Amino acid sequence: MEILRYDIAILGSGIGGFTSAIHASHHSKGRLKIAVISKMHAMRSHSVSAEGGISGVLYHGKGDSESLHAYDTIKGSDYLADQDAVELLVRNAPKEIKFFEHIGVPWNRGDDAIIQQRAFGGMSIPRTVFAADKTGFFMMRALYDYTLQLKNVDIFHENFATAILMNKGRAAGIFMIDLATREMKLIEAKSIIIATGGFSKIYGFTTTSHSTTGDGIALAYRAGISLKDMEFVQFHPTGLIPSGILITEAARGEGGYLRNSDGRRFMEDYAKSHMELAPRDIISRAIMTEIGKGKGVLHSESGLEHVWLDLRHLDKAKIDERLPMIKDITIKMLGIDPSKEQIPVRPVAHFTMGGINTDIDGHAMLNGKRHADGIWAVGECGCVSVHGANRLGSNSLSQCSVWGRIVGIEAAKNAMSARSNDAKALHMQAEEEEMRITELLDRKTGSDPYEIRKELNHLMDSLVYVYRKTNELKKARKGIERLRKECDSIVVNDKSSVFNTNLRDALETSNLVELAAVVVEGALKRKESRGAHAMVEYPKRDDKRWLKHTVAVKKGSRGISISYSPVKITKWQPEERKY
Ligand code: FUM
Repeated sequence: MEILRYDIAILGSGIGGFTSAIHASHHSKGRLKIAVISKMHAMRSHSVSAEGGISGVLYHGKGDSESLHAYDTIKGSDYLADQDAVELLVRNAPKEIKFFEHIGVPWNRGDDAIIQQRAFGGMSIPRTVFAADKTGFFMMRALYDYTLQLKNVDIFHENFATAILMNKGRAAGIFMIDLATREMKLIEAKSIIIATGGFSKIYGFTTTSHSTTGDGIALAYRAGISLKDMEFVQFHPTGLIPSGILITEAARGEGGYLRNSDGRRFMEDYAKSHMELAPRDIISRAIMTEIGKGKGVLHSESGLEHVWLDLRHLDKAKIDERLPMIKDITIKMLGIDPSKEQIPVRPVAHFTMGGINTDIDGHAMLNGKRHADGIWAVGECGCVSVHGANRLGSNSLSQCSVWGRIVGIEAAKNAMSARSNDAKALHMQAEEEEMRITELLDRKTGSDPYEIRKELNHLMDSLVYVYRKTNELKKARKGIERLRKECDSIVVNDKSSVFNTNLRDALETSNLVELAAVVVEGALKRKESRGAHAMVEYPKRDDKRWLKHTVAVKKGSRGISISYSPVKITKWQPEERKY
């Protein structure tokens, strides 16, 4: 095992990871040694797929304000967001948009050279800044190029972390496997930032890339860190049939319509004032209600029912300028030119609102009220919580950027003052982890990780989708319990040491199954409908009993202990959501 010493280890290389690396580096004036660890080439991180844009108030005087952005976000969250965190988000988002401008993101501008903003769901006013429909790609490219110039930051591409190591409740290091050589490595660090993204791959029908397996969240959970609000998984209304590829909300922001099998704009019945630009939870429920009423269209190859996204009335030049990738995708995947034909879409797993339980600074929490010293989480893997039960589109890139700066600075401060860890105890833990991985590789027979993953995806797609029922959730829980046992005897048939993707896939599968169990446990316990968690038996939001966060802690090898923590309300009292 190779042992490497760093001040800060950043697990994950998306927008949250790189932003925190840059700000940690700046804060220490280049003095701290920083490692960014990515299980892929860093530029393939899922952030590159972000399409529609980043939210923030750029112009006052046109009717927008930070207070309105906060209100939209809180109402969009179905009042589960912590309002102090939302206020922090909206206050800092404009500064971060300008930061990205300075490091080279080509935001779309009008003929007047002013940065443009487009409409997104649940927003009172167009507030989403964008770079065509490839916003995440341009942000990542700028961050990556910038980071390459920082002499104190090393990027470990294609290294898969298998454990976060702690010493007496404090960050100590990360154990990882170099995928190119299968060499095992220990990175010692005083500060650890987890930035590994979400876990939508618990579903088969998802917009997210194969890499979104929630690894950092699962590792944190196993290390004793608590998770928050895991039952809230966002279903984006417009996943392309049959692949689930994201058709950006910007398509509706630019004026697209949703139609049922009768050709009717059904959103009139569900959100009369916002129509296709209502929040995602409301539109996804509406689509599934239409399909339930027999107003869906059957895609015979996949057996999936869908509605239509209609862009035919939009100016062709507008599609080419603002939605070029969507046009490219629909032509390549289905032979559909969106200016001539409608696009088949249905709700698709897109974003996980829940994740590592953190305080307002992104500092991770152990069970109860104690911090995990020296450990932060940023981006989709963390739950700070600004999105509550339903995230508004384009608020995630703002969240990654705002908290990227915050946790980068906090982690740097900690690394500059923390004492060194007990190396002997840490090395013993790392040796145990090395033994666990070696034993896994030595196993000759056992359960097939690909079969486990297929079954998990089927369970989640069919039983834990937009509308949930108690008996179906119980069925899902039983199935997942069986899969968890199978994960204990998972087998890696490929014994090679060069790019052993079979080993990586097996480890990812165990992470997914572990997290799916927490999702279902939280969902079964929450007896109300709020945001992305819609229970057929409990169709209403119940603030009296359920205006609280779900907190999950791992208990023994398979137990999940659930408790609740209060939602922070500053100015906006919960009220009925009308759109
Ligand atoms: O529809 C989209 O472009 C997605 C954006 C988001 O999830 O923020």
